[in-house]
Amino acid sequence: MQSVLVANAKGGAGKTTLATNIAAALAVSGEATTLWDLDRQKSALAWLDIRSPSAAPIARAGADADGSHASGRGKGWLVMDSPAGLHGKNLAHALRLAQKIVVPVQPSLYDMAATSDFLQALLAEKPLRRNASAIGIVGMRVDSRTKAAATLEVFLQQFNLPVVAYLRDTQLYANAAFSGSGVFDLPDYLAAREVAQWQPLLEWLRDA
Ligand SMILES: Nc1ncnc2c1ncn2[C@@H]1O[C@H](COP(=O)(O)OP(=O)(O)O)[C@@H](O)[C@H]1O
Ligand SMILES: [Mg+2]
Repeated sequence: MQSVLVANAKGGAGKTTLATNIAAALAVSGEATTLWDLDRQKSALAWLDIRSPSAAPIARAGADADGSHASGRGKGWLVMDSPAGLHGKNLAHALRLAQKIVVPVQPSLYDMAATSDFLQALLAEKPLRRNASAIGIVGMRVDSRTKAAATLEVFLQQFNLPVVAYLRDTQLYANAAFSGSGVFDLPDYLAAREVAQWQPLLEWLRDA
């Protein structure tokens, strides 16, 4: 099983939005997908609760999850959402279960400062000291042609980490979430631009 952890210690960075949309994107493309919500607030599971039975299925790892999902058995994907403030033992534990780590970052002064601390903590963890290529940054609520995007890239240079996608600021994410959907569940005429922006992220995830 392939596993991806969505993490940033900064609250409101876009973790749950990314995790639920990654799960939906994989499910819509026909892959067996399990969502595991490591956040006590359980926003990702609340999203899954209201997902339409006719939508591409996403399994839940919850009370019944014992970590066997991430043990390498079985096919498909495990997508993990994580809480704000993730650090220390909990961060180390989550990292042991993940092959890829996606870090959403918004291009604001406050978000970049908090994310800087988080990335330093992340890069100090054992698995990532050896393999930083497991980390992909997603510029959240940012248009790739703006000054904000350039500022974000300059900021990330110190960490030598790639921006694997820029996702623009749009109400589509919030609107889709109200029905347990991601942008990949929406019709083309609504979400073609979003789906296009997601392609480099999905390619990076699938790239072994
Ligand atoms: N690309 C985006 N465009 C518009 N709103 C977004 C985008 N990404 C996230 N949001 C909004 O930002 C808020 C915080 O996102 P969320 O995914 O809950 O962050 P976290 O899980 O890191 O706390 C939510 O209201 C969400 O709808
Ligand atoms: Mg969240």
